[in-house]
Amino acid sequence: MSQAVAARYQSQPAGTPIQNQVQNQIQNKESKLNAHVHGRMAAAPERVPQVFWCPDLVSTRDLGPAGVDAILHLAGIMKSHPADFRRALTGKQMVMFFEKPSLRTRLTFEAGMAGLGGTAMFVDQTHERIDVRENLSDVAHNLERWVDLIVLRTFSQQTIEGMAQHASVPVINALSDLEHPCQALADYLTLLERFGNGKDRRLAYIGDGNNVAHSLLLTCACLGSSIRVATPPDYAPNPQIVADARQIAEDTGAEIQLLTDPHEAVVGADAIYTDAWTSMGQEKEEVERAKIFPPYQVNTELMAEAASHAVFMHCLPAHRGLEVTDAIIDSERSLVFEQAENRLHVQKAILYLLLGGGDRLPARSAHA
Ligand code: CP
Ligand code: NVA
Repeated sequence: MSQAVAARYQSQPAGTPIQNQVQNQIQNKESKLNAHVHGRMAAAPERVPQVFWCPDLVSTRDLGPAGVDAILHLAGIMKSHPADFRRALTGKQMVMFFEKPSLRTRLTFEAGMAGLGGTAMFVDQTHERIDVRENLSDVAHNLERWVDLIVLRTFSQQTIEGMAQHASVPVINALSDLEHPCQALADYLTLLERFGNGKDRRLAYIGDGNNVAHSLLLTCACLGSSIRVATPPDYAPNPQIVADARQIAEDTGAEIQLLTDPHEAVVGADAIYTDAWTSMGQEKEEVERAKIFPPYQVNTELMAEAASHAVFMHCLPAHRGLEVTDAIIDSERSLVFEQAENRLHVQKAILYLLLGGGDRLPARSAHA
C-alpha cells in the first residue's frame, strides 16, 4: 500500500463510535453483528486489509456497522482518486451470473472491475435458474477453480447464500428478491455527498416493502440513521429483515418506523425514495398492484409535504407515471443519476475489500 493511500485510510476522525467499532473489528476480525458469516468456507486473504474484510456480501448484515462505514469511506476515496487504484486488482477475475435483467448493476460491476485492473465475465442466466442444470454446490466448486469472485443476481436469496456457503471465493449479492445491498450502499453514499452526512438525515421510503426497502432498512440501521417506510398494509417489509434492522439499531441508535400513510412518512424527511410497484419476477401481480399502489405515487403534491430541501431518490429503472411522475424524477431535486453513478464507486470499494486489495495497490502512485 502506498503511503498516500494508507494516510487516506487513516483520515477518518478517530474516537467516534463507528470508528471505534472499525478498530475493534480489525482487532477481533469479527463482530457480534457479522459473526454469522465467519462459519463460511471463504478463503481469507493472505493479509487482512487495513480497513475491514468479510468473506462475502450476501446481505448487508454481513457488513454490520463497521463494514458499511468502511465501504462508504473507501468508496469516497476511490471516487476522488481513481488513478490510485487502477492496478489494485490486476490479475483478478470475476464472473457474474444474472437470472434477471440489469443495466446499472451489470455495467457498474464490469466497469468497476476494469477500473481496478481486473477482468469481468458475464453469464446471462435469464433463461434458467443457476441451479437447474447442475447442483449449486457443483457449480460453486467449478467456479472457485477458475475465478476470484462471484457476483449473483437471483430470484432466491437462498441461491446466493448457498453459493457463498459452497464457494471458497467471495460472493456478492447483486440483487435478490430479498435484498439489494450494493444499491443501498450507493444510496447512502449519495446522501452523504449531498448533505455532508448520511447518518443525520431522515429518509422516507414510499411504496413496496421489497428488496430495495429491505437493504435501505439494514443500511440505515448500520449507520444509526433514521428511516420511515410507508407501504400498503399487505406489502410491508419482511418481518425478519425488520427484526434484524431493529436489533442492529439497538447498538447504533437508528430510528426505524413502519407506516402505511405516505403523507405521515414524508413530513420532515430530507429524502423521499421510491421503487417499482411491480418488481422483476412479480409481473403476474402487475394489474392487482396497479390498483393498490397509486396512493403511494411520489408526485408534486407528496413532495410538497416534505422539507423544502428534500431530495428525490429511486434505484431505477423507474416506471414514470406509476411510482413517480416525470415532474419529480426530472426535477432538480432528483438524485437518481448520482445514485446510479455511485453504484460504480461503492462496488469498486466492495470488490477491493472482499479481494483483499490492500496487497495489490500500485507500487508507484501519482500521489505517493
Ligand atoms: N438499480 C439497479 O439495480 O438497476 P439494474 O436493475 O439496471 O441493475
Ligand atoms: N425492486 C426492483 C429493484 C430493481 C433494481 C426489482 O427487484 O425489480
